[in-house]
Amino acid sequence: MVAKFYDPLYHDCDDGNRFRAAGYDYSHECASYKRLSELQGSVLPRFFGSYTFKTKIDGHPRQICLILIERVNGLPMSRLEPKIFSKEERQDIMRQIIDGESALYAKDIRHEDLCPRNILIERSRNPSNSAEESQWFPGVPISPLLRWNIYYGYPNSFEDWIDWPWQRWLEVQYKETESTITSEQRQRWPVYDWMLEITSFS
Ligand SMILES: Nc1ncnc2c1ncn2[C@@H]1O[C@H](COP(=O)(O)OP(=O)(O)O)[C@@H](O)[C@H]1O
Ligand SMILES: [Mg+2]
Repeated sequence: MVAKFYDPLYHDCDDGNRFRAAGYDYSHECASYKRLSELQGSVLPRFFGSYTFKTKIDGHPRQICLILIERVNGLPMSRLEPKIFSKEERQDIMRQIIDGESALYAKDIRHEDLCPRNILIERSRNPSNSAEESQWFPGVPISPLLRWNIYYGYPNSFEDWIDWPWQRWLEVQYKETESTITSEQRQRWPVYDWMLEITSFS
C-alpha cells in the first residue's frame, strides 16, 4: 500500500500558493478515484480512502491530508530505457496509455499531467511478443558465464563493490557450469577473448 501525502510545505505549485495547490490536488484526486471506481485495479491503482494526519510541531498543531492506494510493483516509464523494449512491447504500452486515457475521458475526467513520469510499468509484465522473449531462453538455467559476463551489463550496477578483475574471477567461480552451455545459448551471448581483457566498468 502507498500513502500519498499532500503537504503544502513540500508541494510543487505554479502560482505560489502551495496551500491552494495541495488542496486542489488532494480534492481532485480523491474525487477522480471515486468517479473512476470501475477502472481501479487496472488503469489506476485501487483507492482505499482519504485521511487527515494530525501532528504537532513545536506545540503547533498541523494537519496533512493523505490518501491510501494500492502499491504498483513497477517503475515510472521515465526511469526505463525505451531501447530495452521491443517495438511490439512499446506499441502495446502506448495502446494501454491511449485506452486508459480514453477511458478516463469517457468518464468526464481529464488527466492534467499525462507524461512518462506518471505512468507506472509493472515489472511482471506479460510479454506481448513471446516469440521475441523466447529467443532469450526465459525460465531455463543458464550458466552465469554468459549472462554475467562483464560485457552484457549485469555487473555494472555493482561497480562500487567490485574492485577485482571481474571476468577472470567469474570464469573461476563458475568453471563447472561451462559444460551446461548449449550452442544456442552461446550464439545468443557470444563470449570473445577481448571480453576477458575488459577490466573496468564503464
Ligand atoms: N500506487 C503507487 N505504487 C507505486 N509507486 C507509486 C504509486 N503512486 C506513486 N508512486 C511513485 O511516486 C511517484 C510520484 O507519485 P505521483 O502520484 O505521480 O505524485 P505527484 O502527484 O506528486 O506527481 C511516482 O512517479 C511513482 O514513482
Ligand atoms: Mg506525478
